Amino acid sequence: MDLNHWLQESRLVVCVGSGGVGKTTTAATIALWGALNGRRALVITIDPAKRLANSLGLDKIGSEETRIDLSAIPEAKGELWALMLDSRHTFDNLIRRVAPNPEVRDRILANHIYRQMADTFAGSQDYMATEKLYDMAETGKFDLLVLDTPPVKNALDFLESPGKLLNFLDERILSWFTGPAAGSSFASRLMAGTSNVVYWLLGQVFGNDFLDDLAVFFKDFQGLYEGFRRRHDAVLALFRDPRTSFVTVCAPTESSVDVATFFQEELRNRSLPRGGVIVNQVHSAEGATHDASAVLGEVAAKAGADLPAPVVNAVLARLGMAHKRLHELVLAEQALEEKVRRAAEGAGFYQEVPRFDGEVHDVTALRGVGRALFEIPATKV
Ligand SMILES: Nc1ncnc2c1ncn2[C@@H]1O[C@H](COP(=O)(O)OP(=O)(O)OP(=O)(O)O)[C@@H](O)[C@H]1O
Ligand SMILES: [Mg+2]
Repeated sequence: MDLNHWLQESRLVVCVGSGGVGKTTTAATIALWGALNGRRALVITIDPAKRLANSLGLDKIGSEETRIDLSAIPEAKGELWALMLDSRHTFDNLIRRVAPNPEVRDRILANHIYRQMADTFAGSQDYMATEKLYDMAETGKFDLLVLDTPPVKNALDFLESPGKLLNFLDERILSWFTGPAAGSSFASRLMAGTSNVVYWLLGQVFGNDFLDDLAVFFKDFQGLYEGFRRRHDAVLALFRDPRTSFVTVCAPTESSVDVATFFQEELRNRSLPRGGVIVNQVHSAEGATHDASAVLGEVAAKAGADLPAPVVNAVLARLGMAHKRLHELVLAEQALEEKVRRAAEGAGFYQEVPRFDGEVHDVTALRGVGRALFEIPATKV
């Protein structure tokens, strides 16, 4: 199966998987490959490895989309853009976009309670990633979007992130704070209720002004509900679009294969479009079937003639041991690869990417990953 066809049909690719497996590397590679083939590709990335960020120029640019210099690959036909997620900035921007007017906008941005809440939500990178994604999709500037996702402890967090803010803003909760006794102060309403001893105590501790501030804040925020809901629906529609693919990235390790398997189930249960599964950083099985002692014996006969026998024997023993260990590692990885391939049934494609020597930290190295990903036929699953 040729992954170039898959990429051609894709408008949005979301890379998911556990921490450290190569999500960011894969996301950047997919966007780069699109750019090499004439697309205007944007990778939305989160906390890329420092050297990758440096070489892409991401350390300087922050949360605005920036064009990546592809002069190292003169035959590139398209454009590669990247932006690094800055949660706080994204959240404030979100308020700016959905606020009904400048007064409400400024009041919310300056509100102490908003600042507290923004800190909490800004920590939720998965939510911010989807928010930024929506913005970028709206601009219409790009014909390929690749979303890198934060390492999630719980896969559900990411998939449900657009709903989080909505749940918080649920109108029923908000109306409890803001209605229905119009005119009366929030604090006095609270204290009027016989069962509101807790709030009476809150008033005693924080002062009634604070409770009134809270009410004003909730009232302003309520006006945003409709905007959030529309964005939530739009992001969900984007996730379900036939030209969207969720690509699960894992490494040949027990824990990341477990997370990848779990993701397959979650995506299937939610009827989200699966693109495929990539096992990254696979050790090469090349030479695994060689008889090490025969090969090493030959080498020793040729190269070892001038060396004392004990040195030759010690080197041979070490090399033989290293080969044996690598062989065992490859066998263990193959068992895990088989497991993840079975779990990927119906996902689309299954592809393995070798572990390269050294870090993948610049456009040229990403292109090497791209070759392994796109120029070697993948398995259809
Ligand atoms: N195929 C590969 N061969 C060699 N090194 C790789 C390969 N893929 C990724 N790496 C390296 O592994 C490290 C982790 O990769 P990356 O940052 O892409 O993972 P991640 O899944 O995004 O991590 P996190 O969950 O922390 O965001 C990086 O230093 C990267 O250069
Ligand atoms: Mg990453």
